[in-house]
Amino acid sequence: MNPTLDDITARESRHIVQTYKRQPVAFVRGRGVSLYDTEGREYLDLVSGIGVVALGHAHPGLTAAIADQAATLVHTSNLYYHPFQGDAAARLAALSGLPRVFFSNSGAEAVEACLKFARRYWFTQGAKDRTRFVALQGGFAGRTFGALSVTHNDHYRAPFAPLLEGVTFVDPADPAALVAAVNDKTAAIIAEPIQGEGGIRPLSAPFAAAINDVCARTGTLYIADEVQTGLGRTGYPFYFQALGLKPDLIAVGKALGGGIPIGAALVSERVAAQISAGDHGSTYGGNLLGTRAAAFVLTELMERGLMDHVKTVGAHFERRLRALALKHPVIQEVRGVGLMRGLQLSIDAMPIVDTARGHGLLVNRTDEKVVRMLPPLTIQAAEIDRAVDMLDTVFASVAQGVQV
Ligand SMILES: Cc1ncc(COP(=O)(O)O)c(C=O)c1O
Repeated sequence: MNPTLDDITARESRHIVQTYKRQPVAFVRGRGVSLYDTEGREYLDLVSGIGVVALGHAHPGLTAAIADQAATLVHTSNLYYHPFQGDAAARLAALSGLPRVFFSNSGAEAVEACLKFARRYWFTQGAKDRTRFVALQGGFAGRTFGALSVTHNDHYRAPFAPLLEGVTFVDPADPAALVAAVNDKTAAIIAEPIQGEGGIRPLSAPFAAAINDVCARTGTLYIADEVQTGLGRTGYPFYFQALGLKPDLIAVGKALGGGIPIGAALVSERVAAQISAGDHGSTYGGNLLGTRAAAFVLTELMERGLMDHVKTVGAHFERRLRALALKHPVIQEVRGVGLMRGLQLSIDAMPIVDTARGHGLLVNRTDEKVVRMLPPLTIQAAEIDRAVDMLDTVFASVAQGVQV
């Protein structure tokens, strides 16, 4: 017999390090945009594992590729070659314009690789004091020490000090502050083209121009953290392309494996040329299972019209959300691009998330007052309509103080 939610939560409360504040539901099955809990109840999933399950749950082609690879060969380590790293890397290179790839197992590890490669780039050239990073207020890059060091939120940082030294945070609304913060000790600027955890906030055109200008003038590297924005989520392969940015390094994760843990640092030739054997590594990084899954996801993205689909349904989503905002004054702003959307509320977003779940709809809260939605890229317009109709009911009931 399947365990009940009570069985599951009781066991976790005894044996899991309590780093997560979970919502009271356990999922056991999924299909497309739908998830099913231990009671067999269906939920429309606009979270997709925080922007990971890009092809939807239990995608038949991806499932078959993973199952075939699992039954053939899962892992051999980076001591040896296998057929899939080069395949996935060539596709990432074609999508991004950066020719070289280092495979990791997560977004934070992709950021770590980018930070290390940036320092190595200057070290190899004899600029050994060019070690500093400029990052953004509101930025998020992950929970490992390096990634945490370029993450702004003090709530995540304070208990773990001291972090990496030499990080300056600038206000993304102030391009002049960026220019002032970069000096001859700066190795790289790291910035998400759209801040995800920070509340779905795209960089402005003037700020993007300031990144380009200061990098061109000083040789400073730009690291685009596209862990959340990358791989079609915005209707572009990467959102730096929409902003006209010119990264030397790109951190990728989340959607890359469609749910199989894999990340990647994409690297320009000039940076890659300064990196030597032994500079970085990972036991699992780029193993057969992960890169087979990634190659499948990338093929779907590049050859099956998925990005055009995101542009079309993303525009529909935006129209529906703007109409929703007109009806509900608690929604102050609709932000985002493609299938990366945020509703800025005047209240804490948690009652909306909880009430929506009660109605069978999964959305996510970020930056306290933002409802974040990152549905599978395969979502259809009719499913978006169902979701926004549910949100309409949810906002009406929360406004009345009725939480179902
Ligand atoms: C922009 C960005 N960078 C890095 C990360 C870290 O990725 P991971 O949780 O896979 O380590 C995240 C995760 O949310 C992210 O949104």
